[in-house]
Amino acid sequence: PVLVVDYGAQYAQLIARRVREAKVYSEVVPHTLGVAEIAARRPAAIVLSGGPASVYTAGAPTLDARLFELGVPVFGICYGFQLIAQALGGRVTQTGTREYGRTGLTVVGGELHDGLPDRQPVWMSHGDAVTAAPPGFTLTGTTAGAPVAAFEDRGRRIAGVQYHPEVLHSPHGQQVLSRFLHEFAGLPPVWTPANIAEQLVGGVRDRIGAGRAICGLSGGVDSAVAAALVQRAIGDRLTCVFVDHGLLRQGEREQVQQDFVAATGAKLVTVDAVQTFVTELAGVSDPEEKRKIIGREFIRSFESAVADLADGGVDFLVQGTLYPDVVESGGGTGTANIKSHHNVGGLPDDLEFQLVEPLRLLFKDEVRAVGRELGLPEEIVGRQPFPGPGLAIRIVGEVTPDRLATLRRADAIAREELTAAGLDQQIWQCPVVLLADVRSVGVQGDGRTYGHPIVLRPVSSEDAMTADWSRLPYDVLERISTRITNEVAEVNRVVLDVTSKPPGTIEWE
Ligand code: XMP
Repeated sequence: PVLVVDYGAQYAQLIARRVREAKVYSEVVPHTLGVAEIAARRPAAIVLSGGPASVYTAGAPTLDARLFELGVPVFGICYGFQLIAQALGGRVTQTGTREYGRTGLTVVGGELHDGLPDRQPVWMSHGDAVTAAPPGFTLTGTTAGAPVAAFEDRGRRIAGVQYHPEVLHSPHGQQVLSRFLHEFAGLPPVWTPANIAEQLVGGVRDRIGAGRAICGLSGGVDSAVAAALVQRAIGDRLTCVFVDHGLLRQGEREQVQQDFVAATGAKLVTVDAVQTFVTELAGVSDPEEKRKIIGREFIRSFESAVADLADGGVDFLVQGTLYPDVVESGGGTGTANIKSHHNVGGLPDDLEFQLVEPLRLLFKDEVRAVGRELGLPEEIVGRQPFPGPGLAIRIVGEVTPDRLATLRRADAIAREELTAAGLDQQIWQCPVVLLADVRSVGVQGDGRTYGHPIVLRPVSSEDAMTADWSRLPYDVLERISTRITNEVAEVNRVVLDVTSKPPGTIEWE
């Protein structure tokens, strides 16, 4: 793999994604990894990430110069760039000024800049600056705040840039990174959806052998793609379990039962737990209480379905864990061999499965690409995030079947109009919320109404950690509002949530 050494900024994962977008496999490793450990991973190339530290701060992460004796191509970004300069005899100076945001880069040569404009916008975020490139390096770019903003040594296959090539505000950054990977490091562009799918299917086949597996389907992308991969690998020895808790949106049960099964040929068991959930949720308005009940009942339903199957012996539980979760929990590569209850929110102790996590090295966009490769329909692979507790946490107040029906209709209308307006790519997700305990006066036809408001909560986001409210076109909002108030009898008002996150969360509960 290409190893992206994480110097503590939030950029390492993004860099790893960009490397993979250049069709080269990459993994994130912590900067505390020693040179010997890095060598043991047989890296095809190494990318040193940016980081918040100054190379002058006591205790700042350092770079062991023996890294360069491995003969592995190295690319440094921002802090990583300064570490290269420092380690190989260049000079890093505390300039006392910060360069932050969009800057103009003047290109003064370099193979990595071949075919790119002499002046290009780049995105900067640094205090210290490299003021002399190390011996043997060619200066290839400069900016107002960074006299040495890029350098390279073709012979030793080492290069770096002060700016952040991984962010979209550096429009040519991806080309520079790609050229490093393909030209300097000589890596072939083979990390493609077809190859990824083939490798993962092979891996699952090796791991499960002649065993049997189960997979819970939620209706979401990750579990669907994980299940499709395992189905491809072991066929009918996989059973998919879908718990219908009655909190899904319009059409989602059918998507799992028909579209998913049609696309994969997977064996599916549906547990109809709608009545149980309605009963257990009756009288409960507290959000945390709702979550607890749903989590508990979900596990019960899943467990009973598994117990029915267990006669035939089930050895493996398939989970749709993704790479960002693995990186964030400090995990490494390879397949975890953990009893289910360690990882799966509270599955009972006596279900001792081994875990199969076929997606644990993939980013979300790769999961979608693999899903498409496996023939899953766009409605499944392109689906926006939807919370596990479903519509229950979008009804502010008690959850009842009538209220669920109301919200489901309003949500379907909003989704339909957003899709028709071609806005699905622009928004991260658009929760539709029913304020069930609020009533307001309205007038419809000749009569007074006293109905409930629906809140539209369209947001844009990169990772759901922060979000901004989406500036939807007024005509789209108008269509959604008109249709919801006309077509959903209990609703007489539609309001728009214009709060970013923070301070608001994306969901209302
Ligand atoms: P918040 O509301 O915390 O949501 O800003 C961030 C993202 O997480 C989703 N979300 C959940 N997903 N179980 C889930 O699987 C949950 O309990 C849950 N709560 C929120 C939310 O839709 C958004 O994408």
